[in-house]
Amino acid sequence: MEVVVEPCEVLLGEVDVPGDKSLSHRSVMLAALANTPTHISGFLPGLDALASLQAIQKIGLQVEIINPTELIIYGQGMRDFTHLLANHSFTLDFENAGTGLRLFSGLLASATGQIILTGDASLCKRPMKRITAPLRQMGVDIAGARLSDITEEKAPLFFNLNKKNKTNNLMPLNYVLPQASAQVKSCLLLAGLFATGKTTLTEPIQTRDHTERMLKEFGANIQKKGQDISIEAPSKNDKLSLISGHYEIVKDFSSAAFFIVATLIAKQGDILIRKVGLNPTRTGLLTVLLKMGADIQISNQHVIHNEPVGDLHVTSKNKLTGAHVSSDLLALMIDEFPIFLIATLTASAPTIIEGIQELAYKESNRVETMVKNLSQLGAKFELITAENKLIVYPLSGSNTPNQSHLDFDLHSAKDHRVAMSLFMAALLGIGPIKIREIENINTSFPQFFEEAKKIGFCFKIITNQGGAKCLQ
Ligand code: S3P
Repeated sequence: MEVVVEPCEVLLGEVDVPGDKSLSHRSVMLAALANTPTHISGFLPGLDALASLQAIQKIGLQVEIINPTELIIYGQGMRDFTHLLANHSFTLDFENAGTGLRLFSGLLASATGQIILTGDASLCKRPMKRITAPLRQMGVDIAGARLSDITEEKAPLFFNLNKKNKTNNLMPLNYVLPQASAQVKSCLLLAGLFATGKTTLTEPIQTRDHTERMLKEFGANIQKKGQDISIEAPSKNDKLSLISGHYEIVKDFSSAAFFIVATLIAKQGDILIRKVGLNPTRTGLLTVLLKMGADIQISNQHVIHNEPVGDLHVTSKNKLTGAHVSSDLLALMIDEFPIFLIATLTASAPTIIEGIQELAYKESNRVETMVKNLSQLGAKFELITAENKLIVYPLSGSNTPNQSHLDFDLHSAKDHRVAMSLFMAALLGIGPIKIREIENINTSFPQFFEEAKKIGFCFKIITNQGGAKCLQ
């Protein structure tokens, strides 16, 4: 499937973004361990979160789907969860979802069944030794596929291929994470829930802390001291459950980010996005855009289940200046790198981005994919690999190719966030833009095109069957 987006100048109205992807994955996993039913609302009906939900169902948990964003998970406690996994063999397919596969590996740490976790071609290329190595230190019998690079491990991941019918006494872990990764941290925190003692993790750089916040909401024994996070199994009388039995998922800041940047760079932009998650470990993009002079007003701020939220009113009133993004800040906007690059192209000065190494391990190598695509639009970059640094130069009249009679032919590399970011390049005023392989937008933002159309975008979706569906 591909989309051709017409140049666009005016964006006005209200955008509704879906439930947070990170929270959707985590909510079904923790609900699966809870002793009482958990009613989840605001769930992301995107393919990534659905993969985690289907995994829970495949294991044998009872799930009631009320509607695509609302469900009840009938967890029966950690003990029963472990029993469900005892001596069974099954394969769980997480498709494109790195979060699903990596967090589930922690959830399955005490399983005694033979379990295989796998995914699509993109997921099976992503590094997994970052979770298999520390899980093995805890005593988990887990191995990943070893492809051409024998020092790395990839999905499929195999649990308990070597030990049959064993009892799994999981050892606690004291571990300094070698990379800034919320997925690795969360995997090990979930495994730590089942260990016989206190697990302590030290983060090199603060990453999103949804797992810590949600574990607290579910009454888990979790503490944070500086960069150290400790977790212990619940004692006999403490069970995991939500006091209210209801978890409302806030809207996804990462999905809102596409429309925030689009509005800022439009000739005339004025949009409202309500009830967006504003957890400070996710809103690095907001921090840097405000520093660049962006007009973004935050109102109606409150907290839902330990997660800050607010309404965002964004306008195109101010021109953006250049910025300097440190590695610490980049970790707080790690998924917003592709859309941030679009913003930097319109800035009045170059932007320096540090700590880019982790971007190579996302749904695509995001530095490579974005630089390749945006270079076609005339953008200029300086990539200083030895320093993990990228310098972006704004697009100027002189380096903008005059191609108004032709579509720019861009490739998303099947990466949802790259596809949605390139879509917003239609606001750069350089001509129609074609983006190929856009199907994976469905992993995180199924209503993306409807929302884009609502505020003024004009585009045509072309299906593989050759049919053109016009959403103008
Ligand atoms: C996520 C963590 C990040 C992020 C991903 C979601 C999470 O990955 O890129 O989209 O929900 O924990 P890493 O942990 O690999 O940085």
